[in-house]
Amino acid sequence: MEWKTRITDMLGCRYPIIEGAYAKQGSWKFAASVAKAGCHGLITATTPGTPAKLRESIKRCREAIEGSGGSFGVNISIGICPEPEKFIEVCIEEKVPLETAVYRPDALAPLIKEGGLLWMHKSARVKDAVHAEHLGADAVIVVGLEGTGFKQAEQMPTMLTTLMAKKMIQVPFVSAGGIGEARGFLGALAMGADGVMMGTAFMATKEFPVNSRAKEAIVKVDPFDLELRHRVIGTVDPKVYEEVLSLRDKVPWELWLSMLERVNLKDPDWKSPPPKWSEAEMIAKLRVVSLAAAFVDSVPTVKDFIDGIIGEAEALIDSYRFLKTR
Ligand SMILES: Cc1cc2nc3c(=O)[nH]c(=O)nc-3n(C[C@H](O)[C@H](O)[C@H](O)COP(=O)(O)O)c2cc1C
Repeated sequence: MEWKTRITDMLGCRYPIIEGAYAKQGSWKFAASVAKAGCHGLITATTPGTPAKLRESIKRCREAIEGSGGSFGVNISIGICPEPEKFIEVCIEEKVPLETAVYRPDALAPLIKEGGLLWMHKSARVKDAVHAEHLGADAVIVVGLEGTGFKQAEQMPTMLTTLMAKKMIQVPFVSAGGIGEARGFLGALAMGADGVMMGTAFMATKEFPVNSRAKEAIVKVDPFDLELRHRVIGTVDPKVYEEVLSLRDKVPWELWLSMLERVNLKDPDWKSPPPKWSEAEMIAKLRVVSLAAAFVDSVPTVKDFIDGIIGEAEALIDSYRFLKTR
């Protein structure tokens, strides 16, 4: 069947599925694997790390996916990516869709809009997505509590987030947070989303650039592991939250942002310097994955993973006899 939504129309991909951003692993090669499977891949700007290397990555990704039916863009994580304006200039010159995330995009919005970029903004609260829409975002991504990445103390579960987004947002929107298989994908579309984003689920694929130990750790996740559940869906202690907010103008901004991230992930050592782990170690220790790991039980290629979701979703649609009302 044809998976046509406002997001596939906007991005030019076959399936309404977008790759999550990954601070160190969001390479052009992995974005190309996702695009070649018919989805929208993302190069995370902090992965190539400099504007010149980002330009090179964009060119290589574009060549690699030609004629594949997929598409790709660039993620700029505000507060993590240094000098984001310089990376945005590259996107404008290369005419590549942009996804901003992590923090408020207000200061960058005029540059993005004047540059004529196709712009999506990702946020953890629907009210921030509404704000991005008012700033001129062409589409938004909302991440519910079940997801990982930069979390929010006021985040709501993915189902509620998706339904609220449907009610409050006019531009196309993408749902994320704990999605990693066909029913979650179809469910989000049924709730009104124009597409889904998957972060954790894509990490357990053959092409994802971390070692097999990290991928095996995701396969072995016990979704009932209390520590993981607490980190991902537990609520933030209001006193700790107040304490980190009170530090906002007292420590360098980047340090404050990483403290806030650790508080939101319920890291009891959030005041100590962050451990010097590689991202693969972080994954192996399950410090960053979401509960989408509950659905991971093998490490397929990206294409097999996506074909599996689409095939199962189509079979499900066919099996629902109540869909045929006449
Ligand atoms: C290892 C890892 C690194 C991530 N790094 C970033 C990042 O640098 N910028 C960003 O916007 N989101 C980042 N995210 C969040 C994802 O892009 C996505 O929003 C999230 O994974 C969606 O939830 P899910 O994992 O349940 O699918 C990261 C997620 C993971 C698992």
